[in-house]
Amino acid sequence: MMEFRASLFTAAMLAIAVLSSPAFAAQKATSPPAPPADILPPSPAPAPAPGHVDLADLLSVAGPFGTFLEYLKKTDVLETFQSKANDTKEGITMFVPKNSAFAALRTTTFANLTGDQLKSLILYHALPKYYSLAEFNKLSSLNPVATFAGSQYTLNLTDNMGSIRVKSMWSNPKISSSVYSTRPVAVYEVDKVLLPMQIFKSDPPLAPAPAPMDDKASDDAASPASRKPASAKATGSKSASYRAGVSVASYVAVAVSGGLMMLLW
Ligand SMILES: *[C@@H]1O[C@H](CO)[C@@H](O)[C@H](O)[C@H]1NC(C)=O
Ligand SMILES: *[C@@H]1O[C@H](CO)[C@@H](O)[C@H](O)[C@H]1NC(C)=O
Ligand SMILES: *[C@@H]1O[C@H](CO)[C@@H](O)[C@H](O)[C@H]1NC(C)=O
Repeated sequence: MMEFRASLFTAAMLAIAVLSSPAFAAQKATSPPAPPADILPPSPAPAPAPGHVDLADLLSVAGPFGTFLEYLKKTDVLETFQSKANDTKEGITMFVPKNSAFAALRTTTFANLTGDQLKSLILYHALPKYYSLAEFNKLSSLNPVATFAGSQYTLNLTDNMGSIRVKSMWSNPKISSSVYSTRPVAVYEVDKVLLPMQIFKSDPPLAPAPAPMDDKASDDAASPASRKPASAKATGSKSASYRAGVSVASYVAVAVSGGLMMLLW
């Protein structure tokens, strides 16, 4: 996948180079063969990459990841993750469940957790180091992999021909999309909440009526009847904020390319 994106990017850059320089073809024909480094576009430099990635901004425009973002804020884990995202040496890899993943669990699932347990649960959704998807094959040979929640809170990663799964005790979600992956920050979308055995002694029951729609905005609507208008509104205001700022535009581009990856997968 990464190779494909890289070659797509390279192809796009070459196309731009050809279009913007009419003499390119002639020059290429007449000049002696130059070393490849001179022909290739000035390597990785993706044009509008922000100096640092603001996780709250990223998660509020991509997704819908509103439920996870609320837990990040409520537990103060957002700041822990953000300082790691600011750390260009190590970085962070986050597995972010969609809102529908939380909605699929009973609303009481987290009700009896202590503050510390809830914090560990959220910390469990990240590794304290950046990994591109291409690195998961190597990473899976290190199973079980320790998470941000501590060395006893581990995950098992499997890479089956590019189909990557993140196994916790009670769930084994697939990475369904790469939302953002530029060193030092990787954010991968997963379709289930990660449920470690240290917190859940038994398999938490699913909600009685499984979520019919994958991408509804959230499950906190007051009644079933108010769900549709509420999520439509949320979607509307979100797409308005998509267009709000230039810095946000780059995240949207990344989110869109994540979607493209999904289609091509
Ligand atoms: C991360 O870096 C940004 C920009 O330098 C800064 O504003 C922010 O406070 C930092 N956050 C943390 C948690 O270190
Ligand atoms: C939460 O705790 C209460 C009281 O201890 C108990 O009755 C209830 O079954 C627990 N709920 C869950 C989801 O474990
Ligand atoms: C991960 O794999 C190890 C064995 O390789 C196993 O002991 C452990 O229970 C697994 N953990 C999970 C969360 O599946």
